[in-house]
Amino acid sequence: MRIVHVPLAARSYAIKIGPGLLGRLGDECARLKLGNRCAVITDTNVGKRFAKPAFESLLKAGFTPSLIVVPAGETAKSLKSLQACCDQLAAERLERKSFIVALGGGVVGDLAGFVAATYLRGIAFVQVPTTLLAQVDSSVGGKVGVNLKAGKNLVGAFYQPRLVLCDLDTLKTLPMREYHAGLAEVIKYGIICNAVLFSRLERDLPGLLKRDPKTLAAVIARCCEIKAAVVGRDETESGQRAILNFGHTIGHALEAISHYGKYLHGEAISIGQVAAANLSARLLGLPIEDVDRITTLFERAGLPTEVKLNATQRGKLFAAMKLDKKVSGGEIKFVLARKIGQVKFGCQVPDKLIAQALDSRPSIRH
Ligand SMILES: NC(=O)c1ccc[n+]([C@@H]2O[C@H](COP(=O)([O-])OP(=O)(O)OC[C@H]3O[C@@H](n4cnc5c(N)ncnc54)[C@H](O)[C@@H]3O)[C@@H](O)[C@H]2O)c1
Ligand SMILES: [Zn+2]
Repeated sequence: MRIVHVPLAARSYAIKIGPGLLGRLGDECARLKLGNRCAVITDTNVGKRFAKPAFESLLKAGFTPSLIVVPAGETAKSLKSLQACCDQLAAERLERKSFIVALGGGVVGDLAGFVAATYLRGIAFVQVPTTLLAQVDSSVGGKVGVNLKAGKNLVGAFYQPRLVLCDLDTLKTLPMREYHAGLAEVIKYGIICNAVLFSRLERDLPGLLKRDPKTLAAVIARCCEIKAAVVGRDETESGQRAILNFGHTIGHALEAISHYGKYLHGEAISIGQVAAANLSARLLGLPIEDVDRITTLFERAGLPTEVKLNATQRGKLFAAMKLDKKVSGGEIKFVLARKIGQVKFGCQVPDKLIAQALDSRPSIRH
């Protein structure tokens, strides 16, 4: 088992990564010295596979768990689900010392974390992420929340879990498309912070695509270390944490204009990161060879790297980018790369260049 420490003073916690961790959920929770009541929040897909082992482990360690199952998919990240979860917690009389276990992907993690942040003004929670995206990204860093009709993640909080348990065995049942989407965030960490990780991904991608446990454990731990370090320096996104949004300005806008239907998040940010790499070549001198390596790695990971938009769709994309909640004073700010492993945030980019980056690639490949 690998352990990554998230350094946030009194709110510090450990991320444990390895196979078979679900079976140790109860013992791990017992070490946190919480109350004996807890609620496992999960979704229909994850619940039918993993609620039973999670429950057995909690019961064996002396806990009294309740089960809350929400529908699978993004629609569960709503105020309505928040209310349903809190109603059930209240009906079952969970109290201040009780805790929540978020068992599922990023949707369950964000929702259950927000339930934990708000029920009785905050009770403890433990993340058990079961998608690659959740293991390397959403379960780390304490952003929790739900969506509004007006947009994603518009209501939420910064609320840290007490522990994150990444059981690599749970990834075995993840649909291929979801798994590939998670790789888009993995590759992102190489581009924004760590050229060594990027080279390692180029080398180890075949093992990663086969979900080889050793390769996965090493890569997930590295990604968590990078995210933990960034979050440790800037917990509430007043500055440096923005680098985690590399590729997300265009990615989020693509998701929004396709009404969160056509692309998974990882697919949209794969296109967004390739476009950001092209912009970086024009504005920050990112070598063309690096643009090429970035594009190739996303392609090898089974992800889309370009999008064809007509004039109307392009107009919508720009409008969506300007609505992004990271925009301040009407100005779209990009994260761009100087080289693989080093990025700069807060870059202003003229609309014309964005359009060009989406159209053409200054690639050396044929
Ligand atoms: N809080 C953050 O910092 C942060 C960061 C990135 C993304 N997010 C959020 O995360 C969400 C996306 O998360 P996601 O990609 O994990 O999606 P998800 O939670 O919807 O999971 C994807 C699908 O896989 C299923 N699934 C999950 N684990 C499985 C398993 N082990 N086996 C089989 N099926 C499984 C789920 O039921 C779902 O159908 C978005 O809402 C996004 O906003 C949050
Ligand atoms: Zn993302």
